[in-house]
Amino acid sequence: MARIGNFETRELPVAVGTRTFRLRCPRSIEELHDAEPSAVPYWADLWPSSLVLAEELAGRSLAGVRVVELGCGLGLGAIVAAQSGADALATDHDRDAVAFARDNGRRVLGRRLATMRADFADLPEALVELAPFDLVIAADVLYADGSAASLADALRALLRPGGEALVAYPWSGQADGLVAGLGWPATEREERQARLLTLRRPG
Ligand SMILES: C[S@@+](CC[C@H](N)C(=O)[O-])C[C@H]1O[C@@H](n2cnc3c(N)ncnc32)[C@H](O)[C@@H]1O
Repeated sequence: MARIGNFETRELPVAVGTRTFRLRCPRSIEELHDAEPSAVPYWADLWPSSLVLAEELAGRSLAGVRVVELGCGLGLGAIVAAQSGADALATDHDRDAVAFARDNGRRVLGRRLATMRADFADLPEALVELAPFDLVIAADVLYADGSAASLADALRALLRPGGEALVAYPWSGQADGLVAGLGWPATEREERQARLLTLRRPG
């Protein structure tokens, strides 16, 4: 069985568009939770929002587009963006998530996926220095107190004027603070078990 870091893993086939992406995830989320009950391993699962985001990215031609994913978890968003031609960077504040995204990227793409450990509430200088990005993507990262305000600040720091952010999230109203805080043109559509918000930074 393949290991990633200290984790036993299992294969997680994910159908996106016409393709199946064979990611790896920890063998058992229950085991992780039992080992460290205080730390909920949200990163270790694939959430419905990421599937809606991935479908959107798979339908685009992203050749030459600079993309950063915030809160990438297992890395699906950045991987699909890279598959669609983007120059993609996967980031998460959790060290283990970054290790899985990196491994999944290499496994699925057959080449290196750029990754970085980064808290979008406290952006590392190394990430800010890589800005501006053309497209910022995030799936299901708006669940913690203050995360909408932090994400708004991160988008201001990372996105170029005229650039786009795609933010997928599960619960109605969860992105209201983000939209209000930025005041940028926004559209939204609901699909399956998630909502996909598109924000355009004024040029
Ligand atoms: C619910 S999971 C979603 C994972 C993946 N995007 C998906 O939709 O399958 C939330 C992810 O966001 C990450 N995250 C939460 N807050 C973050 C922050 N402030 N900075 C960076 N990553 C964060 C978590 O570590 C986790 O990987």
